[in-house]
Amino acid sequence: LQTEALNQVEAAEDVKALQDVRVAYLGKKGPITEVLRGMGKLSKEERPVIGQLANDIREDIANAIQEKQEKLEEVALEKQLEEETIDVTLPGRPVKVGGPHLLTSIVEEIEDLFIGMGFEIKEGPEVETDYYNFEALNLPKGHPARDMQDSFYITEELLLRTHTSPVQARTMGKKDGKEPVKMICPGKVYRRDTDDATHSHQFTQVEGLLVDKHVRMSDLKGMLDKFAKQMFGDEREIRLRPSFFPFTEPSVEMDISCKVCNGEGCSICKGTGWIEILGAGMVHPNVLEMAGYDPEEYSGFAFGMGPERIAMLKYGVDDIRHFYTNDIRFLKQYHKA
Ligand code: PHE
Repeated sequence: LQTEALNQVEAAEDVKALQDVRVAYLGKKGPITEVLRGMGKLSKEERPVIGQLANDIREDIANAIQEKQEKLEEVALEKQLEEETIDVTLPGRPVKVGGPHLLTSIVEEIEDLFIGMGFEIKEGPEVETDYYNFEALNLPKGHPARDMQDSFYITEELLLRTHTSPVQARTMGKKDGKEPVKMICPGKVYRRDTDDATHSHQFTQVEGLLVDKHVRMSDLKGMLDKFAKQMFGDEREIRLRPSFFPFTEPSVEMDISCKVCNGEGCSICKGTGWIEILGAGMVHPNVLEMAGYDPEEYSGFAFGMGPERIAMLKYGVDDIRHFYTNDIRFLKQYHKA
């Protein structure tokens, strides 16, 4: 009986089979229980011998079952571990990492430079009122200079802003005519232009405005010079040419020198060696007055530049449409590692 039981224990292939063996040999209806139960019928001399024997056998079988069970569990655990092993030496799948758009990078660079000079960053709505886009900037209805900026009108009084200059009027308007203003405003602007290499019906501008007591044209010039050198390099010169904007008086356009140097020496880029990069001027007294400032007490300067143009100059991009067609091969060239 013992040998037979031990053989079956050994043969059991899983915990369930082992359990069956336990019930068959050690259970209430098993042969050993039966022997122990029949002890009463045995003689006095036989009892301890048979009892001892039965108990020994039971213990042997129980031990064998216990041992086998541990072994089975160990095997099961090992199998599970093997199945769940991760090979950490396998090469990983590369994760595709994006990066900021070239325009975003340029705008952030411009922002950083002006934050460094103490300017605040402001925002304004892209759907603007006729009042802020034109009238508050000294461009009353019917003013011929409105034609300089062909507009997308939504209603008679609402349009997509044609420049970021309305944020000048909005920012000054909030200050109650008393506090100084020193802000820049980056944002999208819209004009009814036919798209080509240098025109786009939507592009970006960064507006700048400084209003305080005793602000002079020389302050504007000094600040723009600093900006140009930081943005394009110390070797750059700036040049201001007289121009016209209804909201500034006097008005200027700023050129930067475009000397290009390489290992073989320096050459002037194209044409005159100067490239226009922004419009600026002293804030027109009418604009100050409409925003609640006393032009006798306060003066200011304003400027507006196009980040696309700046990016095109800085990186030699030859077509403004590259910024919007979003060809990943173009954009990727400007992702910093
Ligand atoms: N708003 C002008 C434009 O879009 C640029 C400008 C801004 C000029 C501020 C002077 C002062 O062309």
